[in-house]
Amino acid sequence: MSSLLITHIGTLIGLHPKETLLLKGNEMAKLPQLQDAWLLCEEGLIQDYGKMDQLPQHLPNGVKTVSASGGFVFPSWCDSHTHIVFAAPREEEFVMKIAGKSYEEIAAAGGGILNSAAKLQLATEDELFESASVRLNDMIRQGTGAVEIKSGYGLSVESELKMLRVIRRLKESFPIPVKASFLAAHAFPLAYKNDHAGYISLIIDKMLPQIAADGLADYMDAFCEQGFFSVEETDQLLNAAAKYGLRPKIHANQLSVSGGVQVGIKHQAISVDHLEATDDAAIAALANGDTIATLLPSCSFYLGIPFANARTLIQANVPVALATDYNPGSTPSGNMNLVASLGCIKLKMLPEEAINACSLNGAAAMQLADQTGSIAKGKRANLFITRPMPSLAYLPYSFGQSQIETIILNGQIQ
Ligand code: NIG
Ligand code: FE
Repeated sequence: MSSLLITHIGTLIGLHPKETLLLKGNEMAKLPQLQDAWLLCEEGLIQDYGKMDQLPQHLPNGVKTVSASGGFVFPSWCDSHTHIVFAAPREEEFVMKIAGKSYEEIAAAGGGILNSAAKLQLATEDELFESASVRLNDMIRQGTGAVEIKSGYGLSVESELKMLRVIRRLKESFPIPVKASFLAAHAFPLAYKNDHAGYISLIIDKMLPQIAADGLADYMDAFCEQGFFSVEETDQLLNAAAKYGLRPKIHANQLSVSGGVQVGIKHQAISVDHLEATDDAAIAALANGDTIATLLPSCSFYLGIPFANARTLIQANVPVALATDYNPGSTPSGNMNLVASLGCIKLKMLPEEAINACSLNGAAAMQLADQTGSIAKGKRANLFITRPMPSLAYLPYSFGQSQIETIILNGQIQ
């Protein structure tokens, strides 16, 4: 593999020591930087960096040089919560929403997750792979350099496995780390509407053993929510997943206080995600712990539901990550730049906090913080170069616009 030297970096951002794998509380506002810098990538990794007036004398043979022209260099965004494998968009629900229908009402009228599941059943693996690839390429162009992808629009043995095989193919085909979460517990299929125990045993006895045997999932997910999976059902599912070594990353407290946070923590969840409806008991359960609160402000923005209380979580010394939740129903967008902006504008996070939440803590929410999410020697050289900006705050400030000029993955300009 070749070497790449980036010169004339206005500001190099996110120089956390390699041993720093998770940021919580006050640490989240710390984003170490270096002005007027260079950075050398070798064999796909960050080899070294320093000040421009101390450029290394001896550079590797055949090194390619690129000037950042005074722009910032960031570690790539780490999007730790997405549902980008789906068969079709749901813009008809968008119009229903504009006319005043709620997310729950749309689901009850035959829209929602079941609508996506019906369409996914008819799609081939190739079609799903092609459409998810277009989405993932768009996300990469917007600065994402690591991603988690969920199943959950299959809801049958065959279709859940189909989705997970598509995610595996994305893992094998893309130059960024991809993690898979198994989310058959996303909604009860119509046939099991009055037979919850039947669907849960389908997941536990038929899906999980095959998925584990084929190594198709990294994590177990469940939508713990009123009208979806109860705390008891979630508990049962997470117990079963633990037997196969699958730790949870779950949907909790999105539409109501569900008890999902506590059941997630009980099962050593890597992250509990959403938390728009979080109460004091959930905050107390998370306080000072290592379970990451993954907040999804572009979902709140799109659905018009409350925004999560990031300030209270940070004050309670909880590690906070930000992610897109890219999916056809509640967040048809995979733009982490917008998520960083909404983190600042709507969650009142400082730019440094939002950027850490979109990078290092996002990596931690996929157990990838040892290899990506910050600029440290030996980490994967997944980075982006921005236009020259007056300050760090300019990136989230200029919401809805991209400041990114160049994407670098594994030390190679894309
Ligand atoms: O994270 N809340 C559950 N799942 C998705 C939405 C799924 C859908 O509407 O298709 C979410 O928001
Ligand atoms: Fe989600």
